[in-house]
Amino acid sequence: MDSVKIGLAGAGTVGGGVCRVLNRNQEQISARAGARIEVKYVTCRHPENRSDLVPLVGSLGIDWHEIVEDPEIAIAVEAMGGIEPARSFILAAIDAGKHVVTANKALLAQHGDEIFDAAAKKGVIVAFEASVAGGIPIIKAMRESLVANRIQSVVGIINGTSNFILTSMRKEKISFAEALSKAQKLGYAEADPSFDIDGIDAAHKISILSSIAFGGPISFDKAYIEGIRDLQNVDIEFADQLGYRVKLLGITKRRGTGIELRVHPTLVPERRLLAHVGGVTNAVEVKGDAVGSTLYYGPGAGSEPTASAMIADIVDVVRMIGVSSNHQVPVLGYKRKIENVDVL
Ligand code: HSE
Repeated sequence: MDSVKIGLAGAGTVGGGVCRVLNRNQEQISARAGARIEVKYVTCRHPENRSDLVPLVGSLGIDWHEIVEDPEIAIAVEAMGGIEPARSFILAAIDAGKHVVTANKALLAQHGDEIFDAAAKKGVIVAFEASVAGGIPIIKAMRESLVANRIQSVVGIINGTSNFILTSMRKEKISFAEALSKAQKLGYAEADPSFDIDGIDAAHKISILSSIAFGGPISFDKAYIEGIRDLQNVDIEFADQLGYRVKLLGITKRRGTGIELRVHPTLVPERRLLAHVGGVTNAVEVKGDAVGSTLYYGPGAGSEPTASAMIADIVDVVRMIGVSSNHQVPVLGYKRKIENVDVL
């Protein structure tokens, strides 16, 4: 069987998961992709701390330029997180003609248009299923399965850490600070947890989904954002008594005047399925004019759920390019424009 070589930048929770799952399910993944997927390099800031990965990968190093400069690498996989050096790595990889798989919602929300423009010019793919809702294939669902629909709204629990905190405060009666500390220990929270508790991570994700749903640029800068930092146990108890659950929702809706884009704590009636999504689980409800209301549910964070989505993207790219790396394929981009966007 032919092989496709990938280079992975970032060996934290997500990158480590990619190596483990690829190694564990190598035969099945290769059979489905039509080529053996080999991790030729992994780069990270402290390779000395990741000796566990040595048996799983070709080489473990510190310098992501090795990935970019190696003509054998067809797919650059970015699992560094944050803006820099992730942005430089992705742009350099695109410039070198490599396809890119990334889980980086913050980067796409803020620099996605630059990255997709660069990819369009080079004729390479940028795939990003893992950037929203961890293991849930929401981007694929919206782009492919719901392609016939005029999307009306996307409403989701898309920050696992916040949902874990709210669920723990309600069920275990623990304080906000204790619940956050538990989420951090379990590896769900962002490096800067204020991204989770202040709604920024959810806003990154809903901005990406909004752009897919309605076209137009990624409008993170126009989103209304309010997090859960100030919520207390008593708020959750009162909501319970009134028949509601408090959820941090990302919401984007088509309105007469434009597109709403917002993140805030919301009272969700108990009769709604979204009210019962607990722990780190995510759920996204998409309404389309043809299909009606659909709900996608699953693990929204964590090592292997996120790896599952990244590997799906890697396999998709391998299938699209075939085994030869001499390819010209359309970019999975956003560049449809809509008029009169008025984000509320
Ligand atoms: N910190 C994020 C969350 C990780 O809790 O949802 C997955 O994007």
